[in-house]
Amino acid sequence: MHPHRSAIVCLTGLLSLQVSASPTPVEKRQTPTISNSVIFSPPSNAGWVDPRVLYPRAVQLESGAFIATWENYSPEPPKVYFPIYKSTDEGASWTQISKVEDTVNGWGLRYQPFLYQLPVAIGSYPAGTLLVAGNSIPTDLSQTKIDIYASKDDGVTWSFVSSVASGGVAQPVNGETPVWEPLLMVYNGQLVCYYSDQRDSTYGQKLAHQTTTDLKTWSSIVDDVHDTSSYAARPGMPAITKLPNNNYIFAYEACGSDGCRVHYRLTSDPLDVLSAPSYTLKSTAGSTTTSSPFVVWSSVGGANGTIILSGGSASNIFVNQNLGDPNSWVEHTTPQPNAYARSMVLFQDDDSKMLIIGAGHLPPSSTNYVSVSVIDLKETMGI
Ligand SMILES: *[C@@H]1O[C@H](CO)[C@@H](O)[C@H](O)[C@H]1NC(C)=O
Repeated sequence: MHPHRSAIVCLTGLLSLQVSASPTPVEKRQTPTISNSVIFSPPSNAGWVDPRVLYPRAVQLESGAFIATWENYSPEPPKVYFPIYKSTDEGASWTQISKVEDTVNGWGLRYQPFLYQLPVAIGSYPAGTLLVAGNSIPTDLSQTKIDIYASKDDGVTWSFVSSVASGGVAQPVNGETPVWEPLLMVYNGQLVCYYSDQRDSTYGQKLAHQTTTDLKTWSSIVDDVHDTSSYAARPGMPAITKLPNNNYIFAYEACGSDGCRVHYRLTSDPLDVLSAPSYTLKSTAGSTTTSSPFVVWSSVGGANGTIILSGGSASNIFVNQNLGDPNSWVEHTTPQPNAYARSMVLFQDDDSKMLIIGAGHLPPSSTNYVSVSVIDLKETMGI
């Protein structure tokens, strides 16, 4: 199937009754709805490696611009890198402004990028610093290393910050010892890096985090999810967001034990996920979703707002307006195709608008491309 760029529908505001005497209609500015619009599709005959692109991440900067990156399977040499694309028109058009290159290992930046703009200063990095955490892996996949790079100019130039964790062979096989899938979040003046960890021989894989107050030195490892009843369990792909009752929802895939179905925990302390109760995500209609969750919270929909969760198996999003109550998940359609490790960004000035970014499926896949949709959550949920 060839990727397509759909028409962008521009909505104009209606004439308000209060100003009906005015000769000119009052235009209410609206974010255009964007439907699976292609950001980047690698050339088909230029040596790009299966699956071409995968695992996109995006962030909206304080300036209003959106920044996106993804796993980029460009021909080697040169070493692979994380491309940095920018949109200054709310996701409608994108241009590459830079790339984040491995400047310390000589391996490349290969898998699982995560973008994060610091909301507060951490060490010598001021609020507003843009961070990329990602997995540096050599071409032969013999090692894994979660490294962090920083940009103090909104993504134009990048420099190495520190390394969080180092592991073995980059294969998701029990008995190997890689680290995977970093996610960054500031909590109580510290930066937390959540990730998947296969180095503990008690578990095929577990979820863990480390913290830093200076972005140079990292704390010891704290487990977030592990399965004491099954070595074969592989909880993975941590995702977390804060709720208005000061709880956090921590979502993950339960591979090895529950067919990679998405599970989640609710905790008041994001540094203590391990003791929190866990739930299987299941809609009121009985459907579940598998693999690679991402989760955000929007204020739309009343006092509880709305939790929005994306899983790898569904184009649909799962929403919850009861603070994560396990019997309150409802599915809604989106124009964004299902993909491995999609992610979502709420608009800062209006969190009823949400950008979804996807980049296709795990290998083998010769058709992956990076695309975005922008949806109106109220319209999507019919409220
Ligand atoms: C908010 O969520 C709680 C917990 O599920 C629920 O009891 C309450 O009714 C919800 N409030 C609203 C306004 O929906």
